[in-house]
Amino acid sequence: MTENLIVFNARLVTPQGFSARCGKEMGELLVMDNATVEVTDGIITYVGPNRGEERDGYYQHYWHYNARGRCVLPGFVDSHTHFVFGGERAEEFGWRLKGESYMSIMQRGGGITSTMKATRDAGYIRLRSKAEDFLKQMNHMGVTTVEGKSGYGLDKETELLQLKVMRSLASDEHRRVDVVPTFLGAHAVPPEYQGRTDEYVDYLIRDVMPVVKEQGLAEFCDVFCEEGVFSIEQSRRLLATASDMGFVLKLHADEIVSLGGAELAAELGAVSADHLLHASDQGISRMAEAGVVATLLPLTAFALREPYARGREMIDAGCAVALATDLNPGSCFSGSIPLTFALACIYMHLTVEEAITALTLNGAAALRRADRIGSIEVGKQGDMVVLMNDNFHFLPYYIGMNCVHTTIKGGVIYPT
Ligand code: NIG
Ligand code: FE
Repeated sequence: MTENLIVFNARLVTPQGFSARCGKEMGELLVMDNATVEVTDGIITYVGPNRGEERDGYYQHYWHYNARGRCVLPGFVDSHTHFVFGGERAEEFGWRLKGESYMSIMQRGGGITSTMKATRDAGYIRLRSKAEDFLKQMNHMGVTTVEGKSGYGLDKETELLQLKVMRSLASDEHRRVDVVPTFLGAHAVPPEYQGRTDEYVDYLIRDVMPVVKEQGLAEFCDVFCEEGVFSIEQSRRLLATASDMGFVLKLHADEIVSLGGAELAAELGAVSADHLLHASDQGISRMAEAGVVATLLPLTAFALREPYARGREMIDAGCAVALATDLNPGSCFSGSIPLTFALACIYMHLTVEEAITALTLNGAAALRRADRIGSIEVGKQGDMVVLMNDNFHFLPYYIGMNCVHTTIKGGVIYPT
């Protein structure tokens, strides 16, 4: 569904450009008062000062939205989530509160494997309706594009099922959120391959990835590159093959220990390396040189009581940093955009302007969509967020509370 819309009397707040913003460019936003954004058939056709045409009948075939001085930003892009899954893991959260670590729960057969079982049991309808509920909640916080990963099937049938749920949500005519699917078959080793990780990688390469590609079910291929999960060598083998098949690469890198995932992302030309809590100095400079988007997920560090990724240092080293939620049932059962803003600014020392770029244009770049979304510019999709007032500093300041008044998707207005 696309529409014609004119938004006027806006305080426009947007990064500018059609590719990722790196280093200090991340802090450069265009802020314009008394601005108008015109959207025709879902695409932005004018951005600039109010022209007054809304008063004289020129816009007969447009919906009119008077922003009354409120901030209007690009729709937020949540470029790393696992929002399609069965079951929950509240008991595991309780064990972690008592001091058990994320990895020790995983090693004794809980963690991702427990969600795998629930996902295999859930079936299409239950998976889809739960995922759709998450999309609605995200949209209320200003998200207009979300990436979602498979990785809770860990067998061909259920991996494909998760991706088909995303495809169906992505093609819903009334969708408020665009959905971008990623294949993450290498999320954990399923029980049937326990102790045979290399054979599981072979299975993914031989039996699953070609089908995902053939059916056009995922654009990206990701791997949980971590000590005790998939080694650097196994990740390299899987991702190099994925790249040959035409997938664009992503990595869960250096989340629990400093393994060299950031370096591997740079070596393989991945579009993004994600988490990076323990990325080395060398990994940071390699990402900056290779143009890998450093996707930081502060809600996960918060929920796991781990130190935050070195966001400030990454930006100062010239990286393009994106922020995302990592919504998943285990390490981070939250898709809170407001809390992501607050943690990024308070603990990772991003400025508000940088955090806005990280959740819009750089998130779009992490999904190879910076040419289409992520800023309010002529030629891009009419995806916007209207805040409750004229002060964009509310985004981190209003801690954990939602200051989004309205979201606009392809020129269609959705009050929250
Ligand atoms: O991004 N670390 C690996 N994957 C997810 C967690 C998945 C889960 O625990 O279910 C993450 O943190
Ligand atoms: Fe993740």
